[in-house]
This record gives sequence, C-alpha cells and structure tokens, in this order.
Amino acid sequence: MKVKNMSIELIPTYWCNLLADFPDLYQSTLIDPSIRLSLPAATKKVFPKLPLNLLKQSHNVTDANIFIPEPIRKMYATYRPTPFRRAMLLEKALETRTHIYYKFEGSNISGSHKLNSAIAQAYYYKLAGVKHLITGTGAGQWGTAIAYACQLFGLECTVFMVDVSLRQKPQRKKMMELFGATVHESPSTITELGLKTLSEKNSQSSLAIATGEAIELTNKIDGAQFAVGSGENNVLLHQTIIGNEVLNQMESLNIFPDKVYACVGAGSNFGGIAFPLLRHAQLHNKHCEFIAVEPVACPKLTKGIYAIDLNDFSGASPYSKMYTLGSQFIVPAIHAGGLRYHGTSAFLSALYANHYIKACAISQEKSLAAGLLFAKHEGILPAPESAYAIAAAIDDIEKNSLRDGNIIINISGHGLFDIAAYEQYQENKLPPDAIANEVLRHNINILKNNSFNHIT
Ligand SMILES: Cc1ncc(COP(=O)(O)O)c(C=O)c1O
Repeated sequence: MKVKNMSIELIPTYWCNLLADFPDLYQSTLIDPSIRLSLPAATKKVFPKLPLNLLKQSHNVTDANIFIPEPIRKMYATYRPTPFRRAMLLEKALETRTHIYYKFEGSNISGSHKLNSAIAQAYYYKLAGVKHLITGTGAGQWGTAIAYACQLFGLECTVFMVDVSLRQKPQRKKMMELFGATVHESPSTITELGLKTLSEKNSQSSLAIATGEAIELTNKIDGAQFAVGSGENNVLLHQTIIGNEVLNQMESLNIFPDKVYACVGAGSNFGGIAFPLLRHAQLHNKHCEFIAVEPVACPKLTKGIYAIDLNDFSGASPYSKMYTLGSQFIVPAIHAGGLRYHGTSAFLSALYANHYIKACAISQEKSLAAGLLFAKHEGILPAPESAYAIAAAIDDIEKNSLRDGNIIINISGHGLFDIAAYEQYQENKLPPDAIANEVLRHNINILKNNSFNHIT
C-alpha cells in the first residue's frame, strides 16, 4: 500500500528569489571588472565550481520564484513545515501586550536551519556528478547538516570544524562521523594553511581559516567540490522556505509582523525569514522592520565597513563586496560559533546599505540570559546564535517600543549541545566579549588601505 505523506502538501513549492525584486541591488553587488582586474592575482586561482543550477540561482534576476525540485521537497517533508507559535508564556513573563511569535528551525536532525540548504546543495551536486563535498563549519550545525545531506544522496563528506567549537561540542563531531563524514579540527595538520597557522605564535582559529583549509583540500582531490553553508545567493534562496512557510502560517492567523528578528552569521538564516516577508511588505504596502542581530564580538553590520574583501582567511576564495570587519579579524571565542564570521552576504549587505533592513549588536551575556528565559517559559532551549535574536526582541519590548504590536523571532536552532554555554552564563563565568575600537580600527584600516577599496 502506498502511504500518502500529508505534510508535503503544506510545504511551499517555490523558493523566493528576491534578486528579481531588486535587480539593481544585485547589480551593485558585482565587483566592477576594472577593479576585479586589479585584485591580487594569488586570490584568483581558486573559484569554487558550482553546478550550473546553483550558479544560475545565485545570479537569476528574472524569476521571482524558483521551483523546488520534488526530491528536495520530499526530504523537506521529513521535518517541515516547522513550528510557528506564539510565545504566550514569555509574553506574560515580560508583562507585554506585544504578541511574540516565533519560527523554530531546530526541530530537524541537524538541529538548525542549515539543513534547508544542505539538502538542496547535496541534491544539485549529486546531479552534477560530484562525488565528495568538503566544507568548513564553525559551531558544527552546518557540518552536521551537510554530513547528513551527503549520506542521504550518497556523497562522501569532509568537514573542517573550528577547534574552539569542536572542544566545546565534541558531540557534534561524533554526530557528523555517525553520518559517515570525516571531521578535522581546524587549524589541522593536513593542509598548508593549517600547518602555517599552527606554527604561528598565539595561533588562532576561525571559520575563515576552516573555510580556507576546506578550499585547499578540495583543490587536491579529483571529483570533490567545496560546499558553502551561507553567504552565497543560492544558499539564501534555499533558506527562503522559512519565510514562505511563515507567510502561509501567518495568513491563517490573519496577522503581519511589525518587526522580524533574526541573528546574522553570513546571513542565510536572516535572509531566509526576511526575504519573503520583505517582498510581501513591499507588494502590499505594509510596514515591517527587519532586524539583523549580531554579537558585539563580531559587529560587521553595525561597526564594519562596506568594502571589497576576502571571504576566507587565506585568500583562497573570491572577493566579495560586503559589510566586513576584515578577513584577518579574529572573532573572540563566543559560544555562538555560527556568528563568528567577519563578513556578510553581498546581497544582504546591499539591502542594508540601502536601508531595507536594520541591524543591532547584543552582548553574549544578554543573549544567553534571553535564551534561558525563553527556555524556561517556552520549553525550547535556543542555540546560542538564536538567543541573540531573542535578546534583541526583548530589548525592544522592554523599551516599550512595541506596545500592542506583532513580532516574529526566527529561532534558527536548538541549544541542546550548548548546555555548557548556559552553565557558564549562570555561573557568571563568561569572558568579556566586546571588541576594543582600536582592534576594529586596525583591521578596517588594513582594508581601507587596499587600493581597490579607495573607490567604495
Ligand atoms: C543555529 C545557527 N543560527 C544561525 C547561524 C548563522 O547562520 P547564517 O550564516 O545563516 O547567518 C548559524 C551558523 O552556523 C547557526 O548554526
């Protein structure tokens, strides 16, 4: 007997391609060919080779909606639609009249929104004949998602995981290995970049270094490709399944939010919820603010500059025009590993530069306090990354700026592997996380002194 999967009918059939709504903004993200020619030659040798489908998705300014292939929707149906709920007990605790809604992306096996793109990417890479995906991961959510998606589609998988996060969350490594992936602690001893980094005095780690290692290894293995967990237009596109679902879920409640909060690493989680709602607001003349929430430890939107910069530490990846703190900036080891990235998606940066979205920065202490409060009242322990968005929303509510409104918080993942972070918060043992202005200025000046940035 054939069993009908009821939930697949509730899953949107299209991703929302916001590039088609803002073709001029998309155009503004492209680096002028004359500037491109002046970029350091060493950085031009490696370009991650995307399958045609993914490449087209990253540059498509004509199709407002992009059809989700059936095999991807079938995989989505194992965990989607994801919960969209009102946080009534939190509202009561805050004594607010604001209606707080949240979307929860942590209810799949990988524990975060990252699976939405991992499944799509594994599908398209498999279709293109690729055998092996290699990637870098910060907190491990992207690594877990891609490891799981690779085993779904029969691909080999190698992950470089930032050492700080790996030691904080060894279960993440184990989980990836259970799905058949090979996991290296980054900096590793198997790449030149890893060895060089380890040989340096006070050697540091970051997602930019893990990414550099992944790209270096990809270039040495036939049939392997580098997969990226955020930042690229196609990744943001895959994540719009979140916002498209929210539109359906809100329609049944006959509401539209005044504000939407989501944390920002490279931007796919934020773009995923914001893009469909931004389109809806523009088309229907509704007012809604979209707040990108970042850590004070990595304030690229609120304190960075809009410049041409590298996506990784080693210079192995192409340049992007984006809000950045500089690819050499080492982000303090905050628990929200997924937010320890120096830059932001090029398209999101263009939206921010043109005031379609807003940003704010929150401290680690405040975010974990908000995460714990949310857990105590709503029964979900948010990932430390997601807790930043909750803290920003609570901040606004406490300032009374949202009286009687509706807000949505995107809770990108669960924090069940992050108990140590909450424990450290409770025991008052969190190290300081704010960055001295001189440190920010030093890295930003390096960027400004690059000749190709004089024009931006
Ligand atoms: C739970 C969680 N939330 C948010 C983020 C930030 O993601 P993005 O790069 O999509 O902004 C990450 C990144 O790893 C994450 O794991």
